[in-house]
Amino acid sequence: MTDALYIHVPFCRKKCGYCDFLSFTGKSEEEIGKYVEYLKREINLYPDIEYDTVYFGGGTPSILKVEHFYSILGSIKLSKGAEVTVEINPATVDYEKLHSLREVGVNRLSIGVQSFDDERLEVLGRIHSSLEAIQAFNDARMAGFDNISLDLIFATPGQTMDELDTDLQVLKELSPEHISIYSLIWEEGTKFWDLLEDRKLSICDEELEEKMYTYIIEKLSDFGYVHYEVSNFSKPGMESRHNSKYWLNEEYVGVGVGASGYIDGVRYRNFDELEAYYGRIDSGKPPVMEMECLDEKMVAEYSCILGLRLLNTGIMPKEKKQSEKCAELAEQGYLEKKAGGEYILSRKGLFFANDVFEQFID
Ligand SMILES: C[S@@+](CC[C@H](N)C(=O)[O-])C[C@H]1O[C@@H](n2cnc3c(N)ncnc32)[C@H](O)[C@@H]1O
Ligand code: SF4
Repeated sequence: MTDALYIHVPFCRKKCGYCDFLSFTGKSEEEIGKYVEYLKREINLYPDIEYDTVYFGGGTPSILKVEHFYSILGSIKLSKGAEVTVEINPATVDYEKLHSLREVGVNRLSIGVQSFDDERLEVLGRIHSSLEAIQAFNDARMAGFDNISLDLIFATPGQTMDELDTDLQVLKELSPEHISIYSLIWEEGTKFWDLLEDRKLSICDEELEEKMYTYIIEKLSDFGYVHYEVSNFSKPGMESRHNSKYWLNEEYVGVGVGASGYIDGVRYRNFDELEAYYGRIDSGKPPVMEMECLDEKMVAEYSCILGLRLLNTGIMPKEKKQSEKCAELAEQGYLEKKAGGEYILSRKGLFFANDVFEQFID
């Protein structure tokens, strides 16, 4: 039973050099208002669902006005105690806006910080300073948010161990409930990719990246965080409820341009151009561009790949082939077998996580 809703907001003030998420810059207030109306119409195509988690992701959802959130949330049936998360870019909020967001029912924030070093933020192409990110966090606390996640990126061009240490110390002081910390992915089509080709930026040395990841894991666990997913840490019991559903291979409704969803055994992706997206909704149909109907074998594959990301629970392979693969990977030291029979990524497996996941795809 689907009880999770992902809402994609594809607008940003400026494109960051490293990011290939689907988002448009320079859109007018009218265009954004129109998009919100279509979002509501799309949500209505999936009636009678009581949502336990709603996640506004982007792009930069915090570009929307509070009235937009009010009207979208007003069109959704929420269960009691539902988790409602909004991704925030620090440059797009102030205390008043955060306070109003809390008032209209948002109860969890995910703030894109990326780094607490101003020089690094400049390299990344961010539109805020370190101080502004800290201010956004403090404003959110004052506005009553007691469930805040901060996003950071490591292994960025020029980043040193000292700089990483500073990021971690600031995190310790701010003490958010949740931290997502990703190693930089170099994506084709981004500004970073071009700069890499022109040798104006260089990839972080693999050894340094491994050292940084190890340091992050050790420090954050010293600070009391549970490393519950490859790139995610939380205070005990404060895991992202919404994202955990993805990793548990549960179904969810995804709305918005370019959004993915998983309903009744079908994984789908929406049109990624605004006009095509609007056109389909005008004709009363879900704006789905591609669909994949999953058979049992594919569901098992997804469950392994996603489930292995969860470091506390791991997976209990159901099929013989997957059990054999798990045993083989455990033999090679990439997985650990727990007393209950479940397999989880070992420390060695964490560093080669993507290679391990690939082993489960036919
Ligand atoms: C949609 S953004 C968060 C909200 C808002 N757009 C912002 O950036 O402040 C989601 C997160 O993905 C991460 N991210 C985006 N592109 C990445 C990349 N190429 N490598 C690693 N992390 C990336 C960043 O940490 C970012 O905060
Ligand atoms: S990282 Fe966030 S703000 Fe930057 S381009 Fe991507 S979605 Fe937009």
